[in-house]
Amino acid sequence: MLLEGRSLARRQRFEITQLGIARTFQNIRLFGEMTALENVMVGTDARHRTSVPGALFRMPRHYAEERAATEKSMALLEFVGIADRAADKARNLPYGYQRRLEIARALSTEPKLLCLDEPAAGFNPAEKDELVALIRKIREDGYTVLVIEHDMRVVMGVTDRIVVLEFGRKIADGEPEAIREDPAVVAAYLGVPTMALLELDGVAVHYGRIQALAGVSVSVEAGEIVALIGANGAGKTTTMRAVSGLRPLSEGRVVFDGEDITRLRADLRVRRGICQAPEGRGVFPGLTVLENLDMGAYTRKDRRSAAYRDDLDHVFELFPRLAERRDQAGGTLSGGEQQMVAIGRALMARPRVLLLDEPSMGLAPQIIQQIFRIISSINEQGTTVLLVEQNASQALALAHRAYVLETGRVVQHGTGRQLLDDPSVRNAYLGVA
Ligand SMILES: Nc1ncnc2c1ncn2[C@@H]1O[C@H](COP(=O)(O)OP(=O)(O)O)[C@@H](O)[C@H]1O
Ligand SMILES: [Mg+2]
Repeated sequence: MLLEGRSLARRQRFEITQLGIARTFQNIRLFGEMTALENVMVGTDARHRTSVPGALFRMPRHYAEERAATEKSMALLEFVGIADRAADKARNLPYGYQRRLEIARALSTEPKLLCLDEPAAGFNPAEKDELVALIRKIREDGYTVLVIEHDMRVVMGVTDRIVVLEFGRKIADGEPEAIREDPAVVAAYLGVPTMALLELDGVAVHYGRIQALAGVSVSVEAGEIVALIGANGAGKTTTMRAVSGLRPLSEGRVVFDGEDITRLRADLRVRRGICQAPEGRGVFPGLTVLENLDMGAYTRKDRRSAAYRDDLDHVFELFPRLAERRDQAGGTLSGGEQQMVAIGRALMARPRVLLLDEPSMGLAPQIIQQIFRIISSINEQGTTVLLVEQNASQALALAHRAYVLETGRVVQHGTGRQLLDDPSVRNAYLGVA
């Protein structure tokens, strides 16, 4: 085992720290009776140059160093977000704070390599998200980080490269996207093969001689919000049409819930649970709100049932404005209200995946916020969402994962966060350098 070409074999633990490796432990190992600050200072001491006589005689240089070490330790507590409890004994800190304190202590040795052993152990999803943010921040600060973790969301959220071990053997090594799809990993890790709910595989679509999509591969897992972003004309709507069956493919295939639906008629796709709120909303102007919503349920045979009324109630709960306007003609609604009708109508078909094409288009910022919040709650209630948006920053903030389309091709994909932070995406789509 080598660090920068130097062997680590037969070295003492302190030597390894001095060479530049710091770690945290799966089971927290803090000095419980010491304060948070003192726990970090122990780490800075590992780097201290003050000689023992210097410390004994309290030379001025020693004080200066101690002050510097205190400041540095406080800065580290600040960095990991627990400076408010610096003076508390480690054993009195909440669990999440103790985990962060361990990381601060490890960083205090100024490691070249930071090793985190199951840092997310015992965390709830919100804490895991915070941890992911912290690890990213550490990385952005220039540290190299080795994470040992089994939580795939955490792993996918922070890594550039993944090595997969099984029973002491390496079974895969590569970039996260490749690992996620690696059959050996999937089989070993999950025991069962996973399948995307919706998958576009090498899809090409033509309008006459114009090729609108080429080799587009997109996968949407059950429970996700996946966003497609891209400039006007990039092929976003065409991708939606390929999914909903409104446009035939010239190459590739569409798989839904394990079934190849490439050649399935659009109305049969709706019956399978692929429901679209189309671009431009498509509200019938002469029909009332209620009649418009009912159109969404046209494939259903249970329109007199309690289930049907429940679904209608549910739509009115999501969109109270529509409840007030149930007898108003679609054509007289505002843009925001029409968008609500379009989404509500798609919901009436009981979607398993809801396709939303530019739901924010032409709406006032406040209404956009409201629509995005509703999309998020629809998703939390269990509906998978494929969202097309030109409003990239909001779409990326909302989506679990996203794909960037440029002139009919996928040019990037990643988690919403990754793309939000990506300089080229920021440049091209978020209007910031
Ligand atoms: N009905 C059509 N006939 C011919 N070309 C079309 C048609 N619809 C879209 N296109 C072309 O396909 C490309 C992708 O369009 P589209 O999918 O609507 O993009 P987006 O939704 O990203 O704005 C564009 O070049 C567009 O001009
Ligand atoms: Mg479009």
